[in-house]
Amino acid sequence: MKKLFINIKELVQVRETRVAKVSGAAMKILPTIKNAFLYIEDELIKGFGSMDDLADLKTDELIDCNGKMIFPTWCDSHTHIVFSGNREGEFADRIKGLSYKEIAQKGGGILNSAKKLQETSEKDLYQQASKRIEEIINLGTGAVEIKSGYGLNTSSEIKMLRVIQKLKQNYPIAIKATFLGAHAFPSKYKDNKDGYIDLIIHEMLPLVAKDNLADFVDVFCEKDYFTVLQTKRILKAAKEYGLIPKIHVNQFYSIGGIKAGVANNALSVDHLEVLTEEDLQDLQKGESMPVALPSCSFFLGIPYTPARRILDANLPLALASDYNPGSTPSGNMNFVVATACIKMKMTPEEAINAATINGAFAMNLQDSHGSISIGKKANFFISKKIPSYTFIPYSFGSNLIEKVYINGVVIE
Ligand code: NIG
Ligand code: FE
Repeated sequence: MKKLFINIKELVQVRETRVAKVSGAAMKILPTIKNAFLYIEDELIKGFGSMDDLADLKTDELIDCNGKMIFPTWCDSHTHIVFSGNREGEFADRIKGLSYKEIAQKGGGILNSAKKLQETSEKDLYQQASKRIEEIINLGTGAVEIKSGYGLNTSSEIKMLRVIQKLKQNYPIAIKATFLGAHAFPSKYKDNKDGYIDLIIHEMLPLVAKDNLADFVDVFCEKDYFTVLQTKRILKAAKEYGLIPKIHVNQFYSIGGIKAGVANNALSVDHLEVLTEEDLQDLQKGESMPVALPSCSFFLGIPYTPARRILDANLPLALASDYNPGSTPSGNMNFVVATACIKMKMTPEEAINAATINGAFAMNLQDSHGSISIGKKANFFISKKIPSYTFIPYSFGSNLIEKVYINGVVIE
């Protein structure tokens, strides 16, 4: 099926020469074509350019964009979309003054979600997660990473990963699965932490690998959660099964997790709300993509990842939602982009680069997603009538997306 989109006010994030990611000052450049056309065949982008250069193309469908804009879909490289129920009670507790740590000590937090998830059937869990997937697709997300980590025992971790596998099979967007057995220590292992690490390494990992249930492995490397040493043990064991590391790190404290992530060739190091000069230098030594999660900072009222320092160090930066029931009950990447501009002082160009091509890199999807390039997936959204791409972060909270196309097909 050949489709031609004409009279596009501005075609955003056009990369004629493919790039894997953009870093530092290059993030200020967002290539676009004004008054453009876009041509797709089946699920792939086959051509684009200025309306002035439009040749006589034979098409099955002609879509007049009437002065609306086209953006590549968002690439959300960090979510925990498979969860059971909600934690709005904790939200109310936090408003009354309890901290994330105090809530966890009261039996809330990750362990609260784990208890709920363990009691939920795979079918029910799938239904809850599919609603969230449909929600984020309508908000313009075309590729997403989803973590386990609310199971915290072998059968429930596997249950979560099987739900992610089913989502991969049933939805057209690209989905990557991450095994995050090391998200928190179950109460049972409170006084036997190495026992839980052994369970992850000797029981969970072999099963995850046997059924090919994960692309990546993740660890919450943080004070009161997993130490740097425990993180290294898990990453090393997972690598033997071909799982690529990603880590939750520097959300509350800098304990050396970035160095460990970079040394283990982590694909991404995520959170980074707290960042020392040494952490920055460690990031400069490797290829790991720093990932900021501004909706999490917004919701918890914790510091924002210091984007300006990261970009000034000539590093790349990706933006993701962190959609989860505890720290970020939202998967809205439009809000993420707006918050990055408003609170992290990223320019709209930097934020859009971070939420598209750099997000794709953080999922190993840079060859197929993240920009309007020939041969990449025809994943894009048509905006409502807006004066410029800056209007997306400026009009935070508004839904400015009119139509989403995934693999060349409009989502109804
Ligand atoms: O990325 N920081 C660790 N994990 C999640 C929150 C999990 C939860 O509170 O349920 C995060 O913010
Ligand atoms: Fe997270």
